[in-house]
Amino acid sequence: MPVWSSSVTRGDDGVLAVGGMDVRTLAAEHGTPLYVVDEADFRVRAAAFRDHFTAAFGRHRAKVDVFYAGKAFLASQVAGWMREEDLCLDVASRGELEIALRGGMPPERIGLHGNNKAEDELRRALSVGVGRIIVDSFTEIEVLDALAREMGVTAPVLVRVTTGVHAGGHEYIATSHEDQKFGLSLASGAAYDAMLACHDAVGLNLLGIHTHIGSQILSIDAFRESADRMLRLRAAFMADTGAALPEVDLGGGYAIAYTEDAEALEPSVAAYEIADAVASVMDPIGGEWPRFSIEPGRAIAGPAGLTVYTVGVTKDVKLDEGGSRQYVAVDGGMSDNPRTIMYGAEYHAEVASRVSDAPLTLSRVVGKHCESGDIIVRDVQLPEDTRRGDLLAVAATGAYGRSMASTYNAALRPAVVAVRDGASKVLVRRDTLEDLLSWDVAGD
Ligand code: LLP
Repeated sequence: MPVWSSSVTRGDDGVLAVGGMDVRTLAAEHGTPLYVVDEADFRVRAAAFRDHFTAAFGRHRAKVDVFYAGKAFLASQVAGWMREEDLCLDVASRGELEIALRGGMPPERIGLHGNNKAEDELRRALSVGVGRIIVDSFTEIEVLDALAREMGVTAPVLVRVTTGVHAGGHEYIATSHEDQKFGLSLASGAAYDAMLACHDAVGLNLLGIHTHIGSQILSIDAFRESADRMLRLRAAFMADTGAALPEVDLGGGYAIAYTEDAEALEPSVAAYEIADAVASVMDPIGGEWPRFSIEPGRAIAGPAGLTVYTVGVTKDVKLDEGGSRQYVAVDGGMSDNPRTIMYGAEYHAEVASRVSDAPLTLSRVVGKHCESGDIIVRDVQLPEDTRRGDLLAVAATGAYGRSMASTYNAALRPAVVAVRDGASKVLVRRDTLEDLLSWDVAGD
């Protein structure tokens, strides 16, 4: 699979360009480390989900909304892109909600998530009129019902269902097995009881059900199985209560390729397979199809992004098993990409600022933080002559990079710039030393 976004090229001089911008120019203008988002690629990926799912479900005269999961990466300009591409937006906190609103996303196209939403988040969501709140517990059902009645509004809700389908890359990003914090269990009957509670609550309007089975999922079978369980639950509830349940959300989790030998779950395949799976449950049950929604995050933002670093120190370290490894230390690290240390994620990196005829050697890209686990790319082949001042680009860092960045070791979080047609614009500016010192409260 190609790991770089679609506009990435290498000129005759071997220099990498993205969105028509030479990485050396980007680094000179914006500094490094730098997150670069290929705007056209980002939009095309969003549109591909929209178009394939619309076509696949349209064959059954059903509608699908695509909610971009903003946790992958959100900036107000990105919310604007999603609005323009006719997508909806998932937010998972007050902060994400405010960014989405600033970007002009209509509130009715926003969904609010969270397993432990604060009262101010719920209040704000109700007062701006978000389209759906995905309720995650009996406590939340009570709190939200009371708030809605107090405010004189009706809260549109989906119940988050834990289907028991276990899928995804790493234990910490799989979300629909039983023993974890999200959702209400299908198997134990908690989901059904929560749906009843919402159905009965005067302050709530139960629109339907939601599930998200995990992240970085390659298996289409997992999506099929969860759709099957969700639709059976919906049918049983409708038969028992006469409720309409017009919406079903099947969540996100579509896998992307982080390395050249990895595979992705493309919307052009997934959409038709999932629609067919839905048809095989819906056809025998009969009745009108609900309006479906999905919530891809990584598959839109991930491959559209890359990170540019400047190489500082390089070192050859002898390995116990023989041979050696070239350590390439760059000016960022686990503060701008914690995914390697958190999930054992793999990445692909290349020297981006020149061509090298030197042989490739087993290398490890590391950061500048004070721990040995500060690894960005565990194993990658880089030229033996990789040296101080080279720019290094790491592919597919657009999702869960800036959004999970920290200021560990008082690092300054990098800027995010969008590139398109030979121009760049800042989406999120770099932290400054002044920012850092302003967060610190000096004593007397
Ligand atoms: N919907 C819900 C309710 C979610 O919780 C998530 C992700 C998504 C959609 C989007 O999933 P995606 O399509 O991006 O896989 N920090 C981890 C990923 C955590 C995902 C959390 N929820 C990582 O870097 O891999």
